[in-house]
Amino acid sequence: MATDEEEVKQLAKAIKSAQSIVFFGGAGVSTASGIPDFRSSNGIYQKETKQRVPAEEILSHHFFLAHPKAFFEFERDNLLFPAAKPNAMHLFLAALERLKKVTVVTQNIDDLHQKAGSKNVVELHGSLYRMYCTECGTTYDRSELSYDADGIPRCPKCGGIVRADVVLYEEMLDPDTIKGAISAISTADLLIVGGTSLVVYPANSFINYFRGKTLAIINKSRVAEEQRAQIVIHQPIEEVAKELGKQLNMEF
Ligand code: OAD
Repeated sequence: MATDEEEVKQLAKAIKSAQSIVFFGGAGVSTASGIPDFRSSNGIYQKETKQRVPAEEILSHHFFLAHPKAFFEFERDNLLFPAAKPNAMHLFLAALERLKKVTVVTQNIDDLHQKAGSKNVVELHGSLYRMYCTECGTTYDRSELSYDADGIPRCPKCGGIVRADVVLYEEMLDPDTIKGAISAISTADLLIVGGTSLVVYPANSFINYFRGKTLAIINKSRVAEEQRAQIVIHQPIEEVAKELGKQLNMEF
């Protein structure tokens, strides 16, 4: 069994020789930026909520419609980290995109890949910072909005509730976004999966389209798909990024 150190060296080698790379990531990519993940012991789904309803239910379409005040309160307290900064992994991927064909396919909704400078980003679950009015459809940047006395963002044009363009439970992923993810994954020769428990469908199923040479998984805890991977690293992803940067002589 190779050590993590050897596996990181192998990954650096695979990155060097790859023509087309996809990074498929999740909440574990942003924990080093101070944003909690969902399913780790200190994750969002493990905590009691103020609303006394499981967090997974709060983040559902029916809960949003029935209890907008509680929904936005939960969003503000648990999901919004506008001051969070990209960490070494976000910065590494942005720097790599300046050298090679790289697509980031992310389940995250925190905009940190874009803040780091990545251009080619497929946001499977949308973005917390892109918003739209549920009545008239006008789109807004979150920074443009004001909130009513209940803390609900309201459309300046029609007064409707304005929500983030994110995929809640019971909602469908955008078909063009799915196409973009599958097209990138199916034509990549290196797929790096990182910081995700790979338990959420359909996002987790997209990696089955990979036909390339090397599948690498970087995750603190074990995930089921490891059996299929050539490279498996159980280290904090931001530390792996720093080491890859050193080995590939990259500055970020
Ligand atoms: P999870 O919380 O399910 O998984 C995050 C994984 O990252 C865990 O397996 C951790 O062990 C690992 N991890 C945490 N910090 C890490 C670090 N610094 N380095 C390496 N690994 C680390 O999050 P996701 O897989 O992203 O959906 O969850 C998928 C979806 O479930 C989310 O997009 C969200 C949620 O419901 C929506 O919001 C629609």
